[in-house]
Amino acid sequence: MADHDVLVVGAGLAGMRAAIAAHRAGASVAMMSKVHPVRSHSNAAQGGINAALRGADDSVDSHVFDTVKGSDYLGDQDAIEYMCAEAPSEIIALEHMGVIFNRDEEGRLGTRAFGGASYARTFFVADITGQAILHVMYEQIMKAGVRSYEEWFVTDLIVEDGACKGVIAMEMLTGKLRAVSAKTVILASGGVGRAFEPSTNALICTGDGIALAYRAGATLLDMEMVQYHPTTLAGNGVLLSEAARGEGAYLLNSKGERFMEHYAPKMKELASRDVVSRSEQTEIEEGRGVDGCVLLDLRHLGRELILTKLKYIYEAARDYAGVDMADDPVPIRPGQHYIMGGIKTDIDARAWDAAGSAGWDGPRGLFAAGEAACVSVHGGNRLGANSLLETVVFGKRAGEVAAAYARETPDFEVPPSRLADAERGLKELLDRPDNGEMTGALRLEMGRVMNEHLAVFRTEDGMRTALAEIRSLKERYQSLPVKHKGGVYNTDLIFHVELGYMLDSSEAIVASGLLRKESRGAHFRRDIPDRNDGEWLKHTTARLGADGPEVGTLPVTVTRWEPQARVY
Ligand code: FUM
Repeated sequence: MADHDVLVVGAGLAGMRAAIAAHRAGASVAMMSKVHPVRSHSNAAQGGINAALRGADDSVDSHVFDTVKGSDYLGDQDAIEYMCAEAPSEIIALEHMGVIFNRDEEGRLGTRAFGGASYARTFFVADITGQAILHVMYEQIMKAGVRSYEEWFVTDLIVEDGACKGVIAMEMLTGKLRAVSAKTVILASGGVGRAFEPSTNALICTGDGIALAYRAGATLLDMEMVQYHPTTLAGNGVLLSEAARGEGAYLLNSKGERFMEHYAPKMKELASRDVVSRSEQTEIEEGRGVDGCVLLDLRHLGRELILTKLKYIYEAARDYAGVDMADDPVPIRPGQHYIMGGIKTDIDARAWDAAGSAGWDGPRGLFAAGEAACVSVHGGNRLGANSLLETVVFGKRAGEVAAAYARETPDFEVPPSRLADAERGLKELLDRPDNGEMTGALRLEMGRVMNEHLAVFRTEDGMRTALAEIRSLKERYQSLPVKHKGGVYNTDLIFHVELGYMLDSSEAIVASGLLRKESRGAHFRRDIPDRNDGEWLKHTTARLGADGPEVGTLPVTVTRWEPQARVY
């Protein structure tokens, strides 16, 4: 008998929201995460969550349009319409669960402006919104009595006869592998930011779910679309929330000019992230930067506002850059933050094409949500505060649909040979001879390559160089040893497996980037600087073939918004 109806891999906001929804739908649910749930990377989401919930001037259609335009018309409009329509009720649901959103002077839920939005529709908890929601969600998980496999690391999906039937995972406390069977698996294990160095992402963001799905035959979508956030600290990549600019902060160059006035005369600092990051990089490259950065100036906001609404980033700038932002501008620059691409899903969060007609495929019973997934609400560029929204809307949807699918799925046993095979593979890995190579060194090299060639500006030559270097790292990875052989919290072993996951994603990112022969959203090619709707209003796909990614395309779903020139 299967251990669970629904097994959620990842316990950030998408994962926990999925588990709550599946539990409420009557399924037996478990969550599995390599960290304690409240240490998930959703914790780091700072600025807020979008919804067209208040104000006579705002509307769901306006939120949809901003998101479509933000995506540079690559987002699937049916998915975007669904997300934006669900947003207001999700904010209320979160509030009812216990999230203490900031309120305005009249006591109503407060909003702040965020980039690319034509209305201030970002609901927030100071600059710790993700953390606030995560803790409330975990309370709900405990209240529901959902089984939580904490500090379990997934090494494999169990796929038999074209269906996903659970996972092989390592209990990190003991180092023992276990088979955990389930009628459905929801991958909600986050993005792959740590394939880039530096990144705003936590060290745990190694794209585990993305690689697991890819290796199991699922399709990856738009992997070339990698977001660089405009305000990160140099060197360590620590994020200073867009909330700073939402509250009115300026971006200045070395001459003290608010340079965004030239690049985005209407929205200025609150243009979409891809536009702001490219503008900053241009200022830096043309000699108007300050030590490889531009400046984020909050001084005019006053110490009191900073210390009430932006306290976390105040402390981050003070502790990691030695700057008191109430007195001095903070040097910042674009830094890797998010991947818009991921496991291709439909609006029901399924990682396979149920109709069998759309040209993408994967094991039945496999679902994905959150940053690991690409339901394609962000297209070429995600708007700030739409990612928290995506996690809860599609997390909930994944939980509901997976619960229904599990009800229709006959019971099964996973053959013991699955675990035995995995144990043999682990032993072979631990027995590899030491050839002097270090996991950390390869990981750093991968991060450097990706950050050098797949960043704000790209070229054919640069991406070709990156592909060759990633392939050479993959070759070296085949004989990379695990030096520590112990069972208890063997982080050397876990880092090794994570590196394999990231190398797979990196290769898919580069191959997809080489395929897209235009500039759109975050994928800006110096050698082809224009968007080309005639030939490239298309998604890229990557599926694992015998020699690496096999790339292709899928159509974009356009409902009501035909592509227009994108100006801010
Ligand atoms: O800038 C930020 O607070 C980040 C938000 C987001 O990525 O949505």
